[in-house]
Amino acid sequence: MIKSNIALIGFMGTGKTTIGKLVAKKLGKKFIEMDEYISRIAGKSIPDIFHEDGEIKFRELEIQACKQLSKNIDSVISCGGGIILNKINLDYLSTSSIIICLNASPNIIYQRTMKDGKEKRPLLSNPNPMKSINDLLNFRRPLYERATKFQIDTSSLSIEECADAVINLYRNATSGEK
Ligand code: S3P
Repeated sequence: MIKSNIALIGFMGTGKTTIGKLVAKKLGKKFIEMDEYISRIAGKSIPDIFHEDGEIKFRELEIQACKQLSKNIDSVISCGGGIILNKINLDYLSTSSIIICLNASPNIIYQRTMKDGKEKRPLLSNPNPMKSINDLLNFRRPLYERATKFQIDTSSLSIEECADAVINLYRNATSGEK
């Protein structure tokens, strides 16, 4: 089966949403933001899910989202940064998507996520978000590396260059598919 979706994975602040929107526009695909989907299903914001129901509940909703969104065709899916924590998410996504991981340095991640406001991301909403970024990255780096062979460092590329790099990887990965 042709994999007509692109699933963008990677740590918070690596550019999945911004780059995903541009990739979708360039390829004429639908853009889907996984956190928005989860928020709609739960009827509350991501911070409210974390605070009221806990991270485990959020991770369950994330698994359901990966399962449902994998049924889409012709979409660019911007995934939450933690989907690599449950391997089943990658199993669902890889049925219909080429999975591409975006990376960035801790400093760039810090700058980008703090620009959004740290209260938007429960895992960084504490007095020392830089430490949280480093701790989480140290734990997760091998998981992102293992998740896919398609990796892009977005630290010093423009949005346009990142989008084109994603499109190239996607085209190369699907060129032999029937
Ligand atoms: C998370 C990343 C967030 C969001 C939630 C948890 C994570 O998504 O799903 O706050 O565990 O890395 P973004 O990567 O889109 O910020």
